[in-house]
Amino acid sequence: MVQDIGEKTVVITGATSGIGLATATELAGRGAYVIGVGRDKQRCSHAKEHIAATTGARTDFLTADLRMQKNVRQLAEDIQALLMEHGEKNLDLLINNAGMISAWYTLTDEGLETQFAVNHLAPFLLTHLLMPILLKSSEPRVLTVSSKSHRGTRIRFDDIMLKKSYSCLGAYKHTKLCNVMFMAELQRRFGNGNLRAFAVDPGLVRTEIGMKGTGGLVSFVWSMRARGGITPEQGASTCIHLASHEGPGEGIYWKDCAPIPSSGYSRRVAEAKQLWELSEKMCAIPPGGFGKTD
Ligand SMILES: NC(=O)c1ccc[n+]([C@@H]2O[C@H](COP(=O)([O-])OP(=O)(O)OC[C@H]3O[C@@H](n4cnc5c(N)ncnc54)[C@H](OP(=O)(O)O)[C@@H]3O)[C@@H](O)[C@H]2O)c1
Repeated sequence: MVQDIGEKTVVITGATSGIGLATATELAGRGAYVIGVGRDKQRCSHAKEHIAATTGARTDFLTADLRMQKNVRQLAEDIQALLMEHGEKNLDLLINNAGMISAWYTLTDEGLETQFAVNHLAPFLLTHLLMPILLKSSEPRVLTVSSKSHRGTRIRFDDIMLKKSYSCLGAYKHTKLCNVMFMAELQRRFGNGNLRAFAVDPGLVRTEIGMKGTGGLVSFVWSMRARGGITPEQGASTCIHLASHEGPGEGIYWKDCAPIPSSGYSRRVAEAKQLWELSEKMCAIPPGGFGKTD
């Protein structure tokens, strides 16, 4: 059953384009208080104006480059300050949507493989930092936008930064698998209360993701492939469904507004625990300290 989301507070990363912008527009249009996150100030202003012009809704945007953990930490503080300003103490919904592809092997200034830093560690750290205010909500939900690309790969525990072998698609698939295993483990660890965690497969969506951190052949191939994709609004439908349905049903991995099985590897419990513990370490969270920020 669709619920009134007019009272809900929502944070959406990567809300300046594609699936994130479409999700932010729809949820703000339905009355939720949306805080969008983008990496570029001007693109944040454009997104805010677009949402206001399309729906009449007021949103707030925060700028943070999620490659750097120090920025993720600052972002979490800024989100809490904005919510307080808005008279809100809790967060109902966190949508970890920001994502990127890099054709080249690059390390962030903090020494982390860039796709791993943005696509996996940033959602992991942001969720940890926002957990206390999520748990104050009566029905907190965390969504992480994954992909069909999570299939046919494994977690490279022997080479987590992909130093020995890197491919653009291989690194992307690695992070999208992390997204599913992170959501499954979050549900196992925090699902005893009302918290629900979901990994979303939006389908093939006509966005520019494959043309941003790439160039040459990768960019060309993506532009051809994306032509056959659905619109960002259609791609946002599962996020909207999970954000707005009361008791949306069991299942971690969702596509086309319904749960479907994720890959066999992604359902391995021991590896999900291992990834969780490694991610805690890589985000300087004390062992077992996820969600405890005092
Ligand atoms: N498109 C598809 O077919 C498809 C399929 C499966 C899964 N997905 C997933 O869907 C999610 C959204 O992708 P999309 O296709 O909508 O692509 P998109 O239009 O490029 O959106 C990605 C968003 O993430 C932001 N972003 C990228 N790097 C960032 C960083 N370092 N710090 C902060 N924000 C950053 C982008 O900012 P800018 O606007 O400044 O670039 C943008 O807002 C991703 O997680 C992607 O893996 C997409």
